[in-house]
Amino acid sequence: MMPPAKRKSPAKISSPGPADAPARLPEGFQLITGALSPADQKALLSKINDVILSAPLFQPRMPRTGQPFSVKMTNCGPLGWVSDKERGYRYQPNHLETGHPWPPIPEPLLDLWRAHANCTGLPEACLINHYPAGAKMGSHRDQDEHEPRAPVLSVSLGDEAVFHVGGPKRSDPKVRVTLRSGDVCLLAGPSRFAYHGIDRILPGTSDLIPGGGRINLTLRRVTPFG
Ligand code: SIN
Ligand code: FE2
Repeated sequence: MMPPAKRKSPAKISSPGPADAPARLPEGFQLITGALSPADQKALLSKINDVILSAPLFQPRMPRTGQPFSVKMTNCGPLGWVSDKERGYRYQPNHLETGHPWPPIPEPLLDLWRAHANCTGLPEACLINHYPAGAKMGSHRDQDEHEPRAPVLSVSLGDEAVFHVGGPKRSDPKVRVTLRSGDVCLLAGPSRFAYHGIDRILPGTSDLIPGGGRINLTLRRVTPFG
């Protein structure tokens, strides 16, 4: 196998600002590197593959323009996040194409939530994003949920990704962080509604997923607690 490509340093200010401004992650953002061991990553991937067998990946589309996303998606949990040209971004209890209810969230993901989310209630949605080499996710805020006390917890599997996170305004300075297989990150507290996205995938950096690529699992609470 080719040695992994040389990478930029993991955290760096990308937006113009004072020349000596330190790269600062937004308050409340947490990166837990190596939250899952290689064996736990394998076991989780196998459960996610089972989810994908019953709830196949679909190609989401941008509201109004119908432009396809470069990632494919599916979900597990009582609610799933979908987007299409006609009805836009939303949560719904059924698969966009098959109409079946989403499969349940695998227990190891709920364990990660219990261990790291610092939150009494449980998540209702797990979005599964599949990034082939070349896919990215434009800068956005997760704001279709109605429980601001719950964080967004995301798990990375497979190839590494260059993630950026900024602040509540699109123009806020952004910090770049490499997310590796088995890492968990949390958009919690003031960072819950920060702009974030994936600049690129670093192909050949993990052999977890046969054929390469990256899977990101995002756990969210959608409706208010209690
Ligand atoms: C997302 O913000 O929906 C995905 C982030 C990621 O892939 O790490
Ligand atoms: Fe997001």
